[in-house]
Amino acid sequence: MKSYPTIEDIIGSTPLVRLQRLPGDVGEPRGNVILAKLEGHNPAGSVKDRAALSMILQAEARGDIRPGDTLIEATSGNTGIALAMAAAVRGYRMVLIMPDNSTQERCAAMTAYGAELILTPSQGGGMEYARDLALRMQSEGKGKVLDQFSNADNPRAHYETTGPEIWTQTEGGITHFVSAMGTTGTIMGVGSYLRERNPAVRIIGAQPAEGAHIPGIRKWPEAYQPSIYDPAGVDAFEPITQEQAETMARRLAAEEGIFGGISSAGAAVAALRVAAEVRDATIVFIVCDRGDRYLSSGVFN
Ligand SMILES: Cc1ncc(COP(=O)(O)O)c(C=O)c1O
Repeated sequence: MKSYPTIEDIIGSTPLVRLQRLPGDVGEPRGNVILAKLEGHNPAGSVKDRAALSMILQAEARGDIRPGDTLIEATSGNTGIALAMAAAVRGYRMVLIMPDNSTQERCAAMTAYGAELILTPSQGGGMEYARDLALRMQSEGKGKVLDQFSNADNPRAHYETTGPEIWTQTEGGITHFVSAMGTTGTIMGVGSYLRERNPAVRIIGAQPAEGAHIPGIRKWPEAYQPSIYDPAGVDAFEPITQEQAETMARRLAAEEGIFGGISSAGAAVAALRVAAEVRDATIVFIVCDRGDRYLSSGVFN
């Protein structure tokens, strides 16, 4: 009998596409090519499908969890949707804790996959409060926290899949890798793989500038720095304002046909800044999710 893939088999192997118009003077005239890795092509719609599946499969392999168990996670969005999908596929009950200002389409996507939601106050608590609550519930025996912020299986997913894909897709020609930073799983995992292959590859992190609220990414207070984060893994940081990210999100869609989220647009801003400084470079940035997820925020109106 012919064997067909399951939904979990089609996570990853996402396309890498070249920007055609946005680079203008900083692109071809300087010999630069700027490439977008389209993670919105994953089945649950974001780069987080890789990390979610990796965290569940590895915990299963260690015997830490087994189907039927309850998983708990604090997440501002994409990880929740990805974990809800992966939990549905592998047979877990999923409880997700998130600030009450998360967009309605995100919450609905999680419940569609059968997850239960706990909404926490965004004012005065935010993600820090959600993360503390998840750990408290675990200590009360209410379930197992995978904790994407401290779970080595998060960057491992990118070390084992995203990084090698980019290396192969650019035939080893990548010179700069740009990613927005949330848990830092993407930049840590991809960055360490690429550096192993070629230590000259520059790793650039896009972070929200002071006062910017870009969903999914943060400049964490010291006490909440993800423990998977190693500052030595990033060569340079690019601060991105809200306005820059939102304007770029509209331009990516209207001028390139790439309908990505706001943090993805932040990575695009950083990639174009890098291009203005270099020549003959192959710059890859991550489009972590799709713009559909932000429609209710009005950014694309
Ligand atoms: C929209 C969005 N952008 C960027 C990121 C950053 O990815 P990472 O957590 O791997 O740093 C996330 C992570 O949750 C996200 O949801």
